[in-house]
Amino acid sequence: MKTEIDLNIYTNIALESSLKLIKDYSKKPFEDATPIPSALNHSVEFYNHEQSRIFNQEWICIARCDEIPSSGDYITHEIAGTPVLVVRQESGDIKGFINACAHRFTCLVKEESGHAYAFTCPNHAWTYGIDGQLNHAPFMDLKSDFDVKENSLELIHIETWEGFIYLTLSQKPSKKISDSLGTFQKNIVGQYDMGSYKTVIRESMSWNTNWKNLIENFTESYHVPIAHPKTFAKHKKRIKDYECGEDSNHYCYHLAPQESENGPGAAHPKNTNLKGKWRRTMVDFCIFPNHLVTLMPDYLWWVSVMPNGVGQFKANWGVALPPEVINDIAEKDYESWLKDMISYMNTANEEDKALVEGLYKGSQSSRLPSGTYHPIEKNLWQFMRYISKITG
Ligand code: FES
Ligand SMILES: [Fe+2]
Repeated sequence: MKTEIDLNIYTNIALESSLKLIKDYSKKPFEDATPIPSALNHSVEFYNHEQSRIFNQEWICIARCDEIPSSGDYITHEIAGTPVLVVRQESGDIKGFINACAHRFTCLVKEESGHAYAFTCPNHAWTYGIDGQLNHAPFMDLKSDFDVKENSLELIHIETWEGFIYLTLSQKPSKKISDSLGTFQKNIVGQYDMGSYKTVIRESMSWNTNWKNLIENFTESYHVPIAHPKTFAKHKKRIKDYECGEDSNHYCYHLAPQESENGPGAAHPKNTNLKGKWRRTMVDFCIFPNHLVTLMPDYLWWVSVMPNGVGQFKANWGVALPPEVINDIAEKDYESWLKDMISYMNTANEEDKALVEGLYKGSQSSRLPSGTYHPIEKNLWQFMRYISKITG
């Protein structure tokens, strides 16, 4: 019988060692900083620690609000092994629940999305309203003290921000996401009115790399002119014009203006929100821990990254467009426009996938130099310090 031997020296590194490493690395000022220790992207113990400290506690973006526009529309998701159910209410609010029946905890809804008037458990047919209240429990009248009102679905905290839905498995979230992102919204992204962008594409993907590698890839544009010849490099942004944002415990971003004030990447003539250089500026950001957005005056691309083992992640992603841009696409042209857009985004993802999976492979080497950051990779240093703070 063939025995598989794990040659990755970092797989079994103890949690204490990983924590000490990241603490030491994140103390360095940016100018002297080196990339995140490889152990953190390959260690099983650190991965489990991340699941408990990060994904079980932090605010996690799962979708855009306009994916569930009507009362009864729902989506499901899984965070750190916990299935969740998010439903639009009659009031227009959005509620979130643990996606497990209150009887003996069977997963209630299997579909990824849909519309429902009620949710019926496949096990013993307990039936809940879209507000999570138990309405019907067959034959439970045989139990004298049973009260349907005391057997509703477990509610979870949910918040919407700029058109995105966030939820947290924490019972007592330390801070509202809108408070954590207040400055960023006021000074930078608020002027784009992201909440008005309409979802046109919603997809998912799975790559063989650690989830943090995608966060790093997405939040630096140093690689764009080299790695994206068929897609983003065409915007002709000059690296010397890139500008990294302020330090924050909750987000990181950089700005990248393009040369042209017209055409792809620039604001539509009917866009009256954006002024001056903002009409041709991309904001590329991460809301920690796992929500990535490339925000352009004429579209946005978002990704929600979920670890699926040390060396694999699953990500949901989507594209949304400002109303004035959508309105400009003639109805007869929409299908072919959409096909081209999906193909463009898939090409960009393939361009990144090859190099991010290559980074994961290279970083498991037993002998590595110390590495360094380019000045416009400051977001990676911020992300490393966030990881250190939240896991320490
Ligand atoms: S587990 Fe859901 S009705 Fe029994
Ligand atoms: Fe990229």
